[in-house]
Amino acid sequence: MALHARINTAIGRAIAVGQNGVAPKQLSEALDYATSPGGARIRPTILLSVAMACGDDRPGVSDAAATALELIHCASLVHDDLPCFDDAEIRRGKPSVHRAYSEPLAVLTGDSLIVLAFEVLGHAAKEDAMRAAQLVVTLARQTGMPNGICAGQGWESEPSVDLGAYHRSKTGALFIAATQMGAIAAGQEPEPWYELGARIGEAFQVADDLRDALYDTDTLGKPAGQDDLHGRPNAVAELGVEGAITRLKNILGGAIASIPSCPGEAALAQMVRMQAERLTPVVEPAQARV
Ligand code: IPE
Ligand code: IPE
Ligand code: MG
Ligand code: MG
Repeated sequence: MALHARINTAIGRAIAVGQNGVAPKQLSEALDYATSPGGARIRPTILLSVAMACGDDRPGVSDAAATALELIHCASLVHDDLPCFDDAEIRRGKPSVHRAYSEPLAVLTGDSLIVLAFEVLGHAAKEDAMRAAQLVVTLARQTGMPNGICAGQGWESEPSVDLGAYHRSKTGALFIAATQMGAIAAGQEPEPWYELGARIGEAFQVADDLRDALYDTDTLGKPAGQDDLHGRPNAVAELGVEGAITRLKNILGGAIASIPSCPGEAALAQMVRMQAERLTPVVEPAQARV
């Protein structure tokens, strides 16, 4: 798929920068290991789709934005799998980074990817300084405190969890970043794109809850049944399988309706529909009773 090739090429270029010169060999390798072959690349796909719907007049800036976003996502997964968080042995069908390398190297891999993400955006300033600065601020906001991924993971250390804030920060943040950064990369205001990102993020969380409950570890490529195991509140426990699927479809319908008017609106709606189809689990009648 053309978009995937564009994303993978841009990510490969960024990782090579992080491996330049006389660098520690294992950490260099781990940067590659954590980012390729990669997963679904849904966040950069959304980002580039929004940029293209808005004209994509600075493709180099869009590539930098897509790369930075996916690097942050990959870093968050490396850290999330560590024993001090979810202690997950596999990710994307292979041993998680701390299992393949070591805990110190997994901490450093995540750190290096986060720093590299912002370095990539810094370089984009050569093409358009204002857009690059806006991209840095937007990505930082959705990564750190008080509303980014750090906040999302931070909720797991609180005695009681605000579920809405937890999901919005942990999962929604990078989808909001995806739509807003796509708009910024193409020279548009980010605000009108907030709602689309937030709705896709909400749908993604419900879909992830469904997959966690319905699929096995081999199919997922990461540990299954985690919500149940850790007693985490989730859409399947709250609504049942069929209720969660209905909810997923309603949120996605709202997402499509919220697409701001732009030259490539129809193509963008089609992309959201395709992602929706991919996200919605195929449920056997026996599973529907879960
Ligand atoms: C997994 O995200 C982390 C969550 C927010 C649930 P993805 O399902 O997008 O992971 P990859 O990148 O495709 O592996
Ligand atoms: C991961 O959340 C999302 C991050 C912010 C890293 P989860 O722990 O729920 O997702 P998986 O199941 O490991 O992908
Ligand atoms: Mg986690
Ligand atoms: Mg996890």
